[in-house]
Amino acid sequence: MGPPAVNRSPLPPVYLDHAATGWPKPEVVYRAMDHYAREIGVAAGRGAYARGGEADRVVASCRRRLARLIQAPDPRNVAFFSNGTTALNAAIFGFVRPGDHVVTTAIEHNSVLRPLEQLRTRSGVTVDVVPCDDQGQVDSQAILDRVRTDTRLVAISHASNVTGAIQPIETLGKALRGTGTCLLCDAAQTLGYLPIDVVASGIDLLAAPGHKGACGPLGTGLLWVSDAALTRLEPTAFGGTGLNSESLAMPATMPNRLEAGNLNVTALAGWDAGLTWLADVDLAERAAAGKRLAGRLRQAVEGLPGVRAIGAKELPILSLTFAHADVGLVASLLDSEFGIEVRSGWHCAPLIHGFLKSLPHGTLRVSGGHSTAFEELARLGEALGQIVEEVSLT
Ligand SMILES: Cc1ncc(COP(=O)(O)O)c(C=O)c1O
Repeated sequence: MGPPAVNRSPLPPVYLDHAATGWPKPEVVYRAMDHYAREIGVAAGRGAYARGGEADRVVASCRRRLARLIQAPDPRNVAFFSNGTTALNAAIFGFVRPGDHVVTTAIEHNSVLRPLEQLRTRSGVTVDVVPCDDQGQVDSQAILDRVRTDTRLVAISHASNVTGAIQPIETLGKALRGTGTCLLCDAAQTLGYLPIDVVASGIDLLAAPGHKGACGPLGTGLLWVSDAALTRLEPTAFGGTGLNSESLAMPATMPNRLEAGNLNVTALAGWDAGLTWLADVDLAERAAAGKRLAGRLRQAVEGLPGVRAIGAKELPILSLTFAHADVGLVASLLDSEFGIEVRSGWHCAPLIHGFLKSLPHGTLRVSGGHSTAFEELARLGEALGQIVEEVSLT
């Protein structure tokens, strides 16, 4: 990391990094966290006093709302984690056994690829990585063609965090249903942005952060596990749960089976409030709004000389490369001269860039969210226009 950036723009900052985390949160999130931290503040699942009961109520409510959001029949199958990565680690290390075969894809985030690499090098797990096209789209048949009788898991993102390309989860879920292979869906970029029905889609394990589209604060994540997958999932973290303290084994039942140690109830109070806000939003309409935003995003950069735009078909996540400029330099100029916050580089997705032809530096990623206004995208387009012109003159 270099010295702190200076923003010289007289205009208010424009945040276009929603694929990293959603911001700002709905106002109720801040209020609920402040209220919980100041007025309640105690641990959940521990004390039998009244405020302990209030902590339990907050946690149970958040779990119920999440189950509703993904249309899961039983909230107890939702376990809380501190982000998407810890939830994915719990799914992958808890599910895959030495010698198993796993199919994954080139679009995955390091929170899937690095656990699998650990299993590959340490436990003799074999991993097949299915390629994607030049937009980050993976073909469902190409995945199914790699599934063998010893394939324990297919691990795939619902959408690429580099291009926003939505993957054929339902086709995979239906094809794998009833086979010995489970489907792990990383819904980091879609939870709260697109309708998800875990049962109808044939998903066995769904992991996601709470802090992006699902309106939670940083420090939140979930793993939902189907009843069938639960019989094959071992806990990977061990410790106190506030329950069955006399036993040296983790509880057999969910969610305690996966939740070792105190939960971040302050964050969950915020997430619960964010989910209340989200429950009033029609998700089909939110998805349509995201698609409109994606269209405007593409429009904003259309025709800029030497600029290649990749993605932003359904979700407002667009990757850009520049014929005459380094993506890091463009991101830094957008911030310092125009007050526009975006991300450049590999976006923790190391394998996709070979397919997007964005090696060796990756892309400039622009991602919108619920607070993004069309005018902000127009401002981005103008700023990029100026940068591209100046760079090509020098
Ligand atoms: C596709 C994808 N998977 C997983 C993650 C990891 O989530 P977290 O940063 O909450 O650990 C991210 C975060 O950017 C992501 O984009």
